[in-house]
Amino acid sequence: MLIIAIDGPSGVGKGTLALNLVEELKLNYLNSGSIYRSIAYIAEINSIDLNNTEELINIGSSIIFNIKPNSHKVDIIYENKTINNLIFNEETAKIASKISSNKTLRLSLVSIQRSFAKEPGLIAEGRDMGSVIFPNAEVKFFLTANNETKAKRRLNQLKEKGINVSLTQLIDELNERDKRDLNRKASPLIIPDDALVIETDNKSIKDVQEEAIKHIKSSN
Ligand code: DC
Repeated sequence: MLIIAIDGPSGVGKGTLALNLVEELKLNYLNSGSIYRSIAYIAEINSIDLNNTEELINIGSSIIFNIKPNSHKVDIIYENKTINNLIFNEETAKIASKISSNKTLRLSLVSIQRSFAKEPGLIAEGRDMGSVIFPNAEVKFFLTANNETKAKRRLNQLKEKGINVSLTQLIDELNERDKRDLNRKASPLIIPDDALVIETDNKSIKDVQEEAIKHIKSSN
């Protein structure tokens, strides 16, 4: 089965590339960050201690991911409520980054992530897709961008959602998050040996997508 892993820090355009490839190649989609974000969000609204591994694992196993075949649409359901629209904000991302350094929690989430791999194939996006969750993925990408590009992209995404934050605040928050994701002991953000690194500064979404498609074709 074709598995395409896309990893990289926050704001490099992983999500955009992943969704474009899902559309073009008609594959299934795993946004692994949404799993960490969902647990973070539920822990936050229920005032759960972020060091309480057992509670975090319980939350993870109570979330239902309703996968719609060959589509990027996955409904994330907790206690009969769809929470998709509540998790994509900077506060939840920060908590997600904190809890994601928990090795036991990460281990408890391996099988749910692998269960997204269904015919005809999967585009999996995150921090450890190519290194840990799908080490045998046929195609691996690692996207990079400089700090200012990353923050500007994230700022635009937030603006589209009507959320206002300052660029300097965003740069600081992204740096803090990336530093934590890079330096944690459990599945840190690393470039897999067999990944194609795409530097996305000064490249349009279309440029990145074309580079990725070329690589996918040459890997077949
Ligand atoms: O991709 P994202 O911004 O939605 O991810 C939010 C946080 O979740 C990120 O800062 C670290 C964590 N994460 C992770 O540890 N491993 C993944 N595969 C995906 C996300």
